Amino acid sequence: MNTQDYIDREEKYGAHNYHPLPVVLDRGEGPFVWDVEGKRYFDFLSAYSAVNQGHCHPRIIRALTEQARKLTLTSRAFYNSVLGEYEEYVTKYFGYDKVLPMNSGAEGDETALKLCRKWAYKVKGIKENNAKIIACAGNFHGRTITVISMSTDPDARNQYGPFTPGFIIIPYNDIPALENALKDPDVAGFLVEPIQGEAGVFVPDDGYLKKAYDLCRKNDVLFIADEVQTGIGRTGKLLACDHECVRPDILILGKALSGGIMPVSVVLADDPIMLTILPGEHGSTFGGNPLACKVAIESLKVIKDEKLAENADRLGKIFREEIRSIKSDMIELVRGKGLLNAVVIKPRNGKTAWDVCLAMKDNGLIAKPTHEHIIRFAPPLVISEKQLREAIGIIKKTFKLFE
Ligand SMILES: Cc1ncc(COP(=O)(O)O)c(C=O)c1O
Repeated sequence: MNTQDYIDREEKYGAHNYHPLPVVLDRGEGPFVWDVEGKRYFDFLSAYSAVNQGHCHPRIIRALTEQARKLTLTSRAFYNSVLGEYEEYVTKYFGYDKVLPMNSGAEGDETALKLCRKWAYKVKGIKENNAKIIACAGNFHGRTITVISMSTDPDARNQYGPFTPGFIIIPYNDIPALENALKDPDVAGFLVEPIQGEAGVFVPDDGYLKKAYDLCRKNDVLFIADEVQTGIGRTGKLLACDHECVRPDILILGKALSGGIMPVSVVLADDPIMLTILPGEHGSTFGGNPLACKVAIESLKVIKDEKLAENADRLGKIFREEIRSIKSDMIELVRGKGLLNAVVIKPRNGKTAWDVCLAMKDNGLIAKPTHEHIIRFAPPLVISEKQLREAIGIIKKTFKLFE
């Protein structure tokens, strides 16, 4: 079978809910992937920042296979010998009293919303069914009905209504708007991405998170950070909130928590919040399974042992500097933090971000446009400086083709 055969088969039997770049990947190692024809590419998407530790990291694969031979799933109807070890490890790693394990990022967000509502009724004393949560325009928190009820993206919402009530949407990076929304005494939480990833790596002003956090504190409102994409070293710190020394009341993580091996997400919070949920009130068959726990522990160890946040910080600066030095009419703006970056593309002679991505693919680097005119560049954090410079060479060469 060749590339086109694989594409045709997916097209015929799979739902058409994605529009992939025409490349069929077969193998991965570190920052590289290979297609079915044996061609090598730099992976500059990293499965939307899930593969921070690089493809098929040997230590994580070893943890996976060792545990897979022993015990994979017990459900939470029983205790298992690994969950407690994971719970202790992950809570101490991020500095919280308790963790609630889930699978996908969207489930993590759903869990955080439920937790916030419980806290609103049991602790803050909001009248039942009245709690409101503030979210930001341009957000991306996943694809469930409740999560898209907060979305402002027509593609994510159209013809999926009716939606879940109880959300107030304010502009992102707008402190006066937050201040105003917080006047409503029924507000229980503020859910925010420290950098809006899917919106096109939108980095808020310095100080935004800290000011937002302080306002939440003042108004007895939970500051809930969705670090599913920005967390685990991606932006040059363990968490993107660390850039402003903000400790969220509720922290949501996913993606790279498993090094891209399997869906693993968590919600972290302290006892006065987390212990509002009682047995039977929330859960997941696969959440906290022993396989996921072992994979997540090793994935987090790799981040620290290999100093991947530090690498992202250092290489991110080189990346932005080099890309900003490209003389191209198509490059409108380069922005980002650590190794979460984006280039805003100005279409030229009918050529768009999609065309640039196709040409980069031909030159040996894969990335994907988000919102049509923005290309996100987010390689695995294990990439070396030499490899990054080679990849930058490919990007420069590609933009030259559009002169
Ligand atoms: C900030 C953020 N939250 C939540 C999600 C949803 O994660 P998942 O696709 O694992 O449900 C994503 C996915 O891109 C994300 O970027």
